[in-house]
Amino acid sequence: MHKIIIEGGKELSGEIKISGSKNSAVALVPAAVLCDEEVTIANVPNISDIDALDEILNHLGATVTRNDDMIKIDSSKIENKVIPEVISKKLRASYYFMGALLSKFKKVEMYFPGGCSIGARPINLHLKGFEALGAKVQEKDNMFVITADNLRGAKINLDFASVGATINLMLAAVKAEGTTVISNAAKEPHIVNVATFLNNMGAKISGAGTSEIKIVGVNHLHSCFHEVVPDYIEAGTYMILASIIGKKVTISNIIPDHLESLISKLEDIGVPMEIGIDFIRISAPDKLMATNIKTQVYPGFPTDLQQPMATLLTQAVGKSIINETIWENRFLNLNELNKMGATTELLSNSKAVIVGPTKLHGKKVKATDLRAGASLVIAGLVADGKTTIENADYILRGYEGIVDKLTNVGAKIKLEQSNE
Ligand code: EPU
Repeated sequence: MHKIIIEGGKELSGEIKISGSKNSAVALVPAAVLCDEEVTIANVPNISDIDALDEILNHLGATVTRNDDMIKIDSSKIENKVIPEVISKKLRASYYFMGALLSKFKKVEMYFPGGCSIGARPINLHLKGFEALGAKVQEKDNMFVITADNLRGAKINLDFASVGATINLMLAAVKAEGTTVISNAAKEPHIVNVATFLNNMGAKISGAGTSEIKIVGVNHLHSCFHEVVPDYIEAGTYMILASIIGKKVTISNIIPDHLESLISKLEDIGVPMEIGIDFIRISAPDKLMATNIKTQVYPGFPTDLQQPMATLLTQAVGKSIINETIWENRFLNLNELNKMGATTELLSNSKAVIVGPTKLHGKKVKATDLRAGASLVIAGLVADGKTTIENADYILRGYEGIVDKLTNVGAKIKLEQSNE
């Protein structure tokens, strides 16, 4: 385990270059096993979730070469082995091997995936979709056995526009016989990125990025080169930070269109921004104004930025209400923020109120999940004095080089081994 130690209260300025998207890369890597030849994926973030997927690929017998942000995956010799529970529990995205291996071998045996504890995180929509494609799903002792004589295209309507289910069903359907239509599909940029990757390999997918995705099954997927889309959640996290203590902080290598809901909120809050083709430059205003946030599926306000935003709202004048509609357990950062001097209160599992501005003071706090960790990093940088964030490994799951990136813009931050 690691801890992050921050000496807060320093103004930040300079450039933060955004890495490839975690939630895209964690789907693209499992998707690569669908190809019988070598594929190359560039702009892959160097985060621990990718290390865990690399471990799974090695276990299955793939040849994986990683060089900086480039990963080459040759799955031509992989075997259909059970992925050990210790590895599949390391991250949520291990579930993408369900769709990919089901498509490749017509059989997959896998344990329930892991991931941050931010809610119940069922996978019923994934399983229901596999069944619609002709698979049989059996569940026993936390293990799923999914088999199919033949996968056939089907019409699948998702009860909820789930990111994971949409991607997993694209993976399962890509080589199915006939046409699959997924309606009420998720529309996040990573859905488009995964569909483009599969199309680069020869798949026939249209409509990704809209609520209806059509997949015409193909027999063969070939070698290709593909690039991970920039991480709009990483970008948004640093935009929120810059809005509180930034002086001309440039967040570069981004697609500003992916950040429209955050940009619009920051405008309401009073943050001036210069928006370029692939960058946003932010200086903190004298005064931040309270606002209300309701998390929604893309293009609504992303749940993954809700916790970082909570830290900003502790510095805004007035009362802000946060309504979290996606996950049931995404307010665990508020207790830690209160320890640092914030005034926040949970109104229900899905609603919290924050009254600001309150001065934050460095304290010893604990990250309970990835984005709660990001919320505390922001708080530590804003606070006076020393903040120690325990359980920092959560943060390393999703933010490439966070300590170096923040040091480069003037933060006093370090990563150390923790004995706790
Ligand atoms: N849901 C179901 N049944 C399902 C699938 C989802 O009820 O079969 C519910 C979930 O319980 C939740 C909602 O649908 O209430 C959204 O779930 P979704 O499937 O969209 O989320 P996910 O695929 O498990 C991904 C990201 C999350 C991000 C969400 C929402 C990955 C690996 N994870 O999770 O990222 O919060 O989409 O955008 O892509 C993070 O990066 O910190 C993170 C948690």
